[in-house]
Amino acid sequence: MTRIYLDHNATTPMHPEVVQDMLVCFETKYGNPSSVHTDGRDARKLLEAARSQVSGLLSTDPAEVIFTGSATEANNTVIAHMHETSGKDMAFISSTIEHPSVDEPLASVAKSGREVIKVGVDRNGLVNLDTLETALRGRVALLSLVWANNETGVIQSVAEISRLCSEYGVLLHLDATQAAGKIPINLRALNVEFVSISAHKFNGPKGAGALIVASPKSLTPWIQGGPQEARRRGGTENIAGIVGMGRAAEVASRELDARARKYGELRDQLWLGIKESIPSVERNGSCRSCLPNTLNVEFKRTPGDVILQALDLEGISVSAGAACSSGSVAPSHVLSAMGLTSDEARSSLRFSVGQGNDTKDIVRTLAVLKSVVSRIRETNLS
Ligand SMILES: Cc1ncc(COP(=O)(O)O)c(C=O)c1O
Repeated sequence: MTRIYLDHNATTPMHPEVVQDMLVCFETKYGNPSSVHTDGRDARKLLEAARSQVSGLLSTDPAEVIFTGSATEANNTVIAHMHETSGKDMAFISSTIEHPSVDEPLASVAKSGREVIKVGVDRNGLVNLDTLETALRGRVALLSLVWANNETGVIQSVAEISRLCSEYGVLLHLDATQAAGKIPINLRALNVEFVSISAHKFNGPKGAGALIVASPKSLTPWIQGGPQEARRRGGTENIAGIVGMGRAAEVASRELDARARKYGELRDQLWLGIKESIPSVERNGSCRSCLPNTLNVEFKRTPGDVILQALDLEGISVSAGAACSSGSVAPSHVLSAMGLTSDEARSSLRFSVGQGNDTKDIVRTLAVLKSVVSRIRETNLS
């Protein structure tokens, strides 16, 4: 039985062109980009080409791209840098629906005595702009916000938020890990200081990420001890990973519209099918401002983790909440922040489509879901 993978927000398979380019690195382009000989210079050329490909995906300057090992590292770097370099009386602002790689460093900031303000979201998962504006009026070091949420796919109004940050002179960090490669991004049109992305979310390899910094010269390195990345991120570069990330960025730029159309159709087919065939279901999060590939659904009075396991046995991979919290009994903090009760949050599943999915996958998933949900509901009643 071929498995059906509907968990592309957790991670994605690599695009064949990415694999091809990485194989060349493993086999022949093993030079250290810091070396001055030909092998080293060849590796450096590949590194800089990848930087241009990544900057192309985001419409920004290659000089602003700093390669990291993950988006988690990029997020930690931003928060540690701002913690160290901003006035001790200045607050940090974030939201109640952030990824743990922002939440946990911010918890450390709060522990040190700094004020951390978490702005709430409405039932659609959108940040309350009035509350945000009030918070921005204070003395603020940084606003750190997830561009598109990993669990619901809800996209924040970043143009308006960036405008507010300009008005109040606050630096903006956007965690674009889920947005990059899925929706158009033009950083030149926004006033944003820091952006985090991760290759494995857009058909690149794991272990390669990037932090985009508008004023890169002033960044305090999170990893010290090397001249790499112009002294802003120490450690010999993961050339194969970075080359793979560059190719994935280039392919994503090329295929952005076609992917959005195809994934959007599959996602809508899935949601319409669920609505038609399974009673008592509700979609979580805004339908208007949402990543094209993501669907989060509450199956009322049916535990999400039980559905997940039943689907898994039938060869279908989905997620109950964020990948890193799957398996834990705590309800999703994102869905709770949107006002769902613990039971509602625990009855929710995330489906995220991507490379390799087709209509047949959706048809089979719908058939399996229908029987699995009704079986679980019957068992729960008896
Ligand atoms: C919104 C968001 N931020 C950050 C991360 C962390 O990315 P990485 O796996 O590259 O550390 C994830 C991964 O799920 C994510 O969805």
